[in-house]
Amino acid sequence: MMHLINKRVLLGVTGGIAAYKSAEIVRRLQDAGADVRVVMTKGAQEFITALTMQALSGNPVHTDLLDPQAEAAMGHIELSRWADVVLVAPASANFMSKLATGDGSDLLSTVCLATQSKIVLAPAMNQGMWRNASTQENLKTLLERDIKILGPASGGQACGDVGPGRMLEPDDIATQVASLFEQDAFAGLKVVITAGPTREAIDPVRYISNHSSGKMGYAIAEAAAEAGAKTVLVSGPVQLSCPARVDRQDVVSALQMYEAVSKEISDADIFIGAAAVADFRPVEEASEKIKKGASDTMTLNMTKNPDIIAMVAQREDKPFTVGFAAETQNVLEYGRKKLEAKKLDMVIANDVSDQSIGFNSDDNAVTLIDKEANENLSVRSKSQLARDIIQVIAKKYKSKYHA
Ligand code: CTP
Repeated sequence: MMHLINKRVLLGVTGGIAAYKSAEIVRRLQDAGADVRVVMTKGAQEFITALTMQALSGNPVHTDLLDPQAEAAMGHIELSRWADVVLVAPASANFMSKLATGDGSDLLSTVCLATQSKIVLAPAMNQGMWRNASTQENLKTLLERDIKILGPASGGQACGDVGPGRMLEPDDIATQVASLFEQDAFAGLKVVITAGPTREAIDPVRYISNHSSGKMGYAIAEAAAEAGAKTVLVSGPVQLSCPARVDRQDVVSALQMYEAVSKEISDADIFIGAAAVADFRPVEEASEKIKKGASDTMTLNMTKNPDIIAMVAQREDKPFTVGFAAETQNVLEYGRKKLEAKKLDMVIANDVSDQSIGFNSDDNAVTLIDKEANENLSVRSKSQLARDIIQVIAKKYKSKYHA
């Protein structure tokens, strides 16, 4: 099955009779989960309208390089950065020539010049034009530059000729674009992540909470989405913005976090509990602000919160379950105990007594503990660490379910 979940495909359409098939390509890419934006050349608009492509893609169609309004919304540089892949289908002989010579005279060619992402072309033209020495020379240049060429197919052509130059079918094009991302560690998987602290209300103005910043959980969510996962982030109150392509669900208390996870977990492949969930909550939340009164002490009756990760790990259809162990001493020993007690697949053990790493820091170092071994990931930025953790989880997940 092909997956383009979370992937951003910029579809460039150039002038040619095959342009009518680009509408179908949008559909096939979206069926696979892609977010699609369309750039059309002037020639393309003679064959299919921007309105059709806009209605299908659900995004405004980009046509002009020198339109100040369009450039203000999303200019050629933003588009080139936005795309995970630039697919030009159909790619005309003229467009291949422009790309081979570095011409930047319209929006699509400038996007191709500026992008760091993979460029894929699905050529479509008359068989004579395809066989022409100039086109073949351009083809050679483009292949040397690591531009991927899909097709063209051979057969009857719109002009009555028979030979090579027909654009591949939309299904085939979408499948080949998806195959570029097959190696993504989390391609096609759903990951649910908890992050941040929870707040347990005492009365309308007070609560019990902890120092968790949510940074590690957010970095993991970002890395999971980057690795191709459909990513749900159940987040306690934090000062962080939601990473791109992540579905964030805001909660405040442990009970709300439990509810949100319960709703999302049945079709999840992987669960990562990065939240610092409060273990206890006040038995009752006072409906009015509690007055300090005459006594020098105050007693708060607390009750245990449900253990969210233990609930996940006890399910019959349990996803691959990863917990955090934030400890101030005996980090590895306590981490391994948590792995066994909560029946987890992996524990990410974190020494929070070290001020240079841990809760509010931008760096962290952890040990990954599973049944077989401990693996140290030494100090690095939380975003790099998150990417490295995702790679290890993907490896362990695959060896557990596809051994
Ligand atoms: N966790 C959870 N729900 C809870 C408490 C913890 O999902 N109610 C998860 C955390 O997100 C983390 C893991 O459990 O992934 C370990 O949390 P921690 O609070 O350190 O473990 P405890 O079992 O509470 O052990 P202790 O308080 O003794 O350290």
